[in-house]
Amino acid sequence: MKAIVYASTGPSDVLSLVEREVAQPGPGEVRIRVVASGVNPTDWKAREGGGAGSALGFDEVVPNQDGAGVVDALGEGVTGLAVGDRVWVYLAAHQRPTGTAQAFTVLPADRVVALPEGIGFDVAASLGVPAMTAHRALTVHEHGPARLSPGALTGRTVLVHGGAGAVGHAAIQLAAWAGATVITSVSSEEKEALARAAGAHHVVRYPDPALAERIQELAPNGVDHIVEVAPTQNAALDVEVIANHGSIAYYANNNGDEFTVPIIASFAKNVRWQGLLLYTVGPDALHAAAEDVTAALVDGALPVGESAGLPITWFPLEETAAAHDAVEGGAVGKVLIRVADEA
Ligand SMILES: NC(=O)c1ccc[n+]([C@@H]2O[C@H](COP(=O)([O-])OP(=O)(O)OC[C@H]3O[C@@H](n4cnc5c(N)ncnc54)[C@H](OP(=O)(O)O)[C@@H]3O)[C@@H](O)[C@H]2O)c1
Repeated sequence: MKAIVYASTGPSDVLSLVEREVAQPGPGEVRIRVVASGVNPTDWKAREGGGAGSALGFDEVVPNQDGAGVVDALGEGVTGLAVGDRVWVYLAAHQRPTGTAQAFTVLPADRVVALPEGIGFDVAASLGVPAMTAHRALTVHEHGPARLSPGALTGRTVLVHGGAGAVGHAAIQLAAWAGATVITSVSSEEKEALARAAGAHHVVRYPDPALAERIQELAPNGVDHIVEVAPTQNAALDVEVIANHGSIAYYANNNGDEFTVPIIASFAKNVRWQGLLLYTVGPDALHAAAEDVTAALVDGALPVGESAGLPITWFPLEETAAAHDAVEGGAVGKVLIRVADEA
């Protein structure tokens, strides 16, 4: 079978296309014939490592955490999945070398989720990292729901920074599905159109020295949940617009590695600054996210494509390096790799 591998970290030219044996699933594992592989910033960051040549932990690694395909074989003891099931997967390359940029991958069964009928592999391969991150960010409020479902966020206002980003897009969709009023920030007219197509009720543009006032006009009682991609730039703004007992779930260090916050204004509002890393959040949060994302899929709440606010750019498996470079270069929307035909 064809696989993309890297044997040392570094720029995208460490990736090469090789032929490998198809592996057998062990106890508790599932083999998947991959149809589509999703690329996220974490994939190029892991590949890049701390510099060329830094230790990998495995002789070689197949990149990409997210993907979708068809169950091809089951290891001993696996229940709830059957050969032929259409599935999406998450954390495929976490602490194992078995990412989705290959024709077949073998994963622990609990990283494999059955797709509801009628959901395309483009949607499925876009879920993993973005949807699960967004789910966690929307469920860490002190007085908010731990799970998402229609109505779970009714009466609440959510501010999603970067609504045209992959995580931002998923956060808009999940929050709107759960009944929230969604405000999002974007940096251009093109991204404003995408964020509206995703379902945001209000879109504000940054940079803007009057951004806090604009958000306060839209949410006079304050914003309950903030999904934060760039705390270095937005921390002070967030504290200004957050409601009493509001939560700010920060999941990225875009444009800066440190942030400062006004202390009194933060504690006076009982603000919860909630960090979030999918790799360490733990199985309960991941399983909850997988279940709720499945329910949202059944409701048709997570479409992709330009008309749904997430343009897709496809690459063939052979061009996985170019796909990584596109994500690193800030491609708008979602970058997917077509690993095989659907049939
Ligand atoms: N902690 C975790 O578990 C976790 C999970 C998923 C992703 N991440 C990280 O989260 C980041 C985003 O991932 P992604 O896949 O969503 O990337 P993406 O599709 O490139 O989106 C990033 C978005 O952030 C926006 N942005 C940057 N600075 C902003 C600011 N000051 N205010 C508002 N928006 C701003 C960008 O818009 P402009 O370019 O127009 O400014 C862009 O739309 C990456 O660094 C990724 O590694 C972490």
